[in-house]
Amino acid sequence: NYYAVIMAGGIGSRFWPVSRTSLPKQFIDMLGTGKTLIQATYDRFRKIVPESNIFVATNESYASLVREQLPNLTPQQLILEPIMRNTAPCIAYASHKIQQLNPDATVVIAPADHLILDTEAFVSDITKGLKCAERHDWLITLGIKPSRPDTGYGYIQYGKSASVQGFKKVKTFTEKPNLELAKTFLQSGDFLWNAGIFIWSVKSIIQAFDKYQTEMNDVFKEGSEVYNSAREAKFISGAFVRCVNISIDFAIMEKADNVYVLPSDFGWSDLGTWASIYELAEKDYLGNVSSSAENVIVYDSSNCMIHAPKDRLVIIKGLHNFIVVQSDDTLMICPKDQEQGVKQIVADVKDKF
Ligand code: GDD
Ligand code: MG
Repeated sequence: NYYAVIMAGGIGSRFWPVSRTSLPKQFIDMLGTGKTLIQATYDRFRKIVPESNIFVATNESYASLVREQLPNLTPQQLILEPIMRNTAPCIAYASHKIQQLNPDATVVIAPADHLILDTEAFVSDITKGLKCAERHDWLITLGIKPSRPDTGYGYIQYGKSASVQGFKKVKTFTEKPNLELAKTFLQSGDFLWNAGIFIWSVKSIIQAFDKYQTEMNDVFKEGSEVYNSAREAKFISGAFVRCVNISIDFAIMEKADNVYVLPSDFGWSDLGTWASIYELAEKDYLGNVSSSAENVIVYDSSNCMIHAPKDRLVIIKGLHNFIVVQSDDTLMICPKDQEQGVKQIVADVKDKF
């Protein structure tokens, strides 16, 4: 009765110019391991649930990329969204579809674009979560010890009461706080980052949607007759336009009172910036990280992060502490400590490329 849903519909604009709307980072081998991020995610879940119970939810425009990268996926296991409405509609749809297949399903839902260093610890925590969610009406989150007041994460405050098998009752869930609030959370010491991975029974999450997103839940409930049939796609194209654009964090997690957290430590990173990839990737003896030794040649340089497609020859000499990113049509060179500026660059050139 265990299922996994991999969410792979985001556009990952921070990794411009490599990751862009036409090729988001989940479909890229960001770390030079020979596997794209979604392939690595899929392989992790194969260790936890039967392969036939792994679903991928993404936008229609990425369907061919997913099929290419995960050839074992059957059409049934590919959940396609006609328009981008963020993660709440994605999860509502997937939950109703899976409930139709198996009303007793317990599901782990995870992003396609994260790095997990300790697979063994990951497998153990997720399995523990699935076992627990099978028996309790809990919405389970995984909590990571925060290391900086990052405003891109959800913050989970856990209660002081004793934990049940390591799970703690969540007092508050705050999605993407402002910097001031994030600093307060960090100082207080009883907050964790939301890893963006959720575990629950389809029963519990549909109940939560019914309570906190009634209209959205009604939309997908209407489809119960057509899921997993030939009429599903037509129904869904009408359903998504009726949904508001909202993430699961704002839609459900901030509101629900049956949220639990399992503090976790499995070498998690959401690979949010080039610098974060640099930190985690394997470096040469001078501290350089490159996407490939064959086509990236480095002379007299140190602490650089170089990323290039296999068919481009990139040569750097005498460069220190730089990010050099070559895509098919764009080259970006930027000091490693000025990466915050990438967002502005993307905004400035968006209309030209
Ligand atoms: N199928 C589908 N459809 N997937 C989507 C959509 C969508 O419309 N939008 C985003 N995704 C996918 C992304 O590809 C990613 O894998 C995952 O859902 C999460 O979306 P992000 O857009 O990356 O969310 P975030 O990083 O801003 O915030 C979430 O993750 C943080 C941890 O990395 C939140 O859950 C935070 O609370 C959390 O701390
Ligand atoms: Mg993310």
